[in-house]
Amino acid sequence: MQEGEHVGQPNVCLKLHNLYLFLHMCMPIPLLLLFLQRHPEAVHAEENRGIQMSYALGVSRIVQERQHDRLRVSTMTGNVAVITGGTSGIGKATAQLFVRAGAKVVICGRNQDRGQEVISELKAMNGDALFVKADVSKAAEVESLIETTVSTNGRLDYAANIAGIGAYATTVDCTEKLWDLMMRVNVKSMWLSMKYEIPHILKQGGAIVNMSSITGLVGIIGQPAYAASKHAIIGLTKTAALEYAKQGIRINAICPGSILTPMQDPVINGNPEIAARIGARHPIGRMGTAEECAAAIHWLCSDAASFVTGCAMTVDGGYVAQ
Ligand SMILES: NC(=O)c1ccc[n+]([C@@H]2O[C@H](COP(=O)([O-])OP(=O)(O)OC[C@H]3O[C@@H](n4cnc5c(N)ncnc54)[C@H](OP(=O)(O)O)[C@@H]3O)[C@@H](O)[C@H]2O)c1
Repeated sequence: MQEGEHVGQPNVCLKLHNLYLFLHMCMPIPLLLLFLQRHPEAVHAEENRGIQMSYALGVSRIVQERQHDRLRVSTMTGNVAVITGGTSGIGKATAQLFVRAGAKVVICGRNQDRGQEVISELKAMNGDALFVKADVSKAAEVESLIETTVSTNGRLDYAANIAGIGAYATTVDCTEKLWDLMMRVNVKSMWLSMKYEIPHILKQGGAIVNMSSITGLVGIIGQPAYAASKHAIIGLTKTAALEYAKQGIRINAICPGSILTPMQDPVINGNPEIAARIGARHPIGRMGTAEECAAAIHWLCSDAASFVTGCAMTVDGGYVAQ
């Protein structure tokens, strides 16, 4: 017997079986109609749910597509950034990365010669860069830095407030002079920078990254003034982030571990064994680089971090996770 013959001539049992299946499948429909007749609001609820579902799916798809576009074009072309402490170490690496991303950058520091050297390097990368000599602990100089940035470039989108100093002196040995200097250069400067940057960034939105440290999250023996200053920066950052969250400015801090920059020169003194010992305190087993910090700052400024504000992000090879 051919297979087709069997299909074309079903026996009685098969017919009964098919009838049973048909009734079984149709039964819920009259029951559902009966239910909807008695509960018309359920029809609306169902319609609304459908609308809400398709709206939610549509919106999330649009958001995802936008997010993808942003990630694809996560550049800073057409944007302007000010980078305090851009004449050395992490600030210089940040200026280089921002220039590579297409931003126009304005860097500041107190050392004119070093500032001009960095500008030459940035211009050799085809960067649009300007150095403004400014001491970030002085209100008039910070105000003038930001005014020059905006009058030269027409806008301000990003600020990386990186300038800072470190010092070793235990709680008893720390002098009033050192304490005041640390608070002026590390803390007052952050407040002043944001005070003059925010009104300009507000015009179109943007992001600010403030430089804290692992010493802003944990204590380090021999650095009470530095630790107090870096803890204060996180408080300032969180508060400003809350104040401007609804107005299109995201404000975050980064907390690097030990980074190989000129700031570490007095400690390392050119001795690789000391650098290795410092590196070994970090679970990743080495010191960090200025470029690794710059990458975190760039990410926090980019639209890829569009839902990140008020955070103190560690860039520390796992140091504070211990
Ligand atoms: N290196 C690390 O291990 C480490 C770890 C955590 C956090 N940090 C923080 O990262 C930031 C940068 O440090 P870095 O390691 O890159 O050190 P760096 O190479 O010594 O650079 C410090 C920068 O700050 C500027 N600066 C200092 N005082 C200033 C002032 N009063 N006004 C204007 N600019 C000033 C310096 O410029 P001028 O000398 O030209 O004024 C220089 O550009 C600091 O805030 C530091 O606390 C560093």
